[in-house]
Amino acid sequence: MNPYDYPLSLKLDFSTGALEPGVHVTPRRVSDLALMFHDKEAVAAAIAQRDPVVYEILSQGFPGSRTDAAIAISRIYPGRVGDEYHFTKGHFHERDDQAEVYFCLKGEGYLLLERADGEFRAEPWQPGTISHIPPAWGHRVVNTGRDLLFFIGIYHLSAGHSYKQVEERGFAQLVVERDGRPILIPNPRRIPR
Ligand SMILES: [Fe+2]
Repeated sequence: MNPYDYPLSLKLDFSTGALEPGVHVTPRRVSDLALMFHDKEAVAAAIAQRDPVVYEILSQGFPGSRTDAAIAISRIYPGRVGDEYHFTKGHFHERDDQAEVYFCLKGEGYLLLERADGEFRAEPWQPGTISHIPPAWGHRVVNTGRDLLFFIGIYHLSAGHSYKQVEERGFAQLVVERDGRPILIPNPRRIPR
C-alpha cells in the first residue's frame, strides 16, 4: 500500500507559515546563496558575521503510485545582502513541460521570471497574488518588505530543480534598495554579455 494514494491534510499557520504535522524543513543561508547575490563583499561580510538564514523551505511531497504532486512553503526573512533584497535561489525545472503555481500568503515583493531566450517578467506580489509559472520559465521570489514573506508552491516532484543558469547568470534584473525603496535594475553580470 502506498500511503500517498490516500488523502492527507496539513494545517498552515497564516502568521508564521509553519506547516503541521512536521514537514521537511530546508534552511538556505547567505553561504548557500553566495553565487546569487551580486555584492560579493557583502556576501563575505554576512557569512563572517553569522551567516544568517535568508529563507526556509517547508516541503511535503505526495508521491503516490500514479502521480507525485507536492507543496512547498517558502518563508523569506526580511533583509538585504548589500543593496539586494533577500530572495529564493531561483531555479528552472529540469523538465521543460512542468508548470507550477505560486500563491503569496503573506508579505510583499516580486516574483521574477525569465526564459532561456531572455524574456523577463517581474510580477508585483502581495498577499492573495496567485501566479502561474509556465513551463521553461525560471522563477525567483524577492521579499522587499519589512516583514516575513511566505508563499506556497504547488508542483510535481518529477519537475526537478535546475540551478545552473541562475548560478551562472542570475536573472535579467535585480531588486535593490534605493532611498529606502525597492527598484529593479539591470543585472550587472549581464553587461556586457
Ligand atoms: Fe519551481
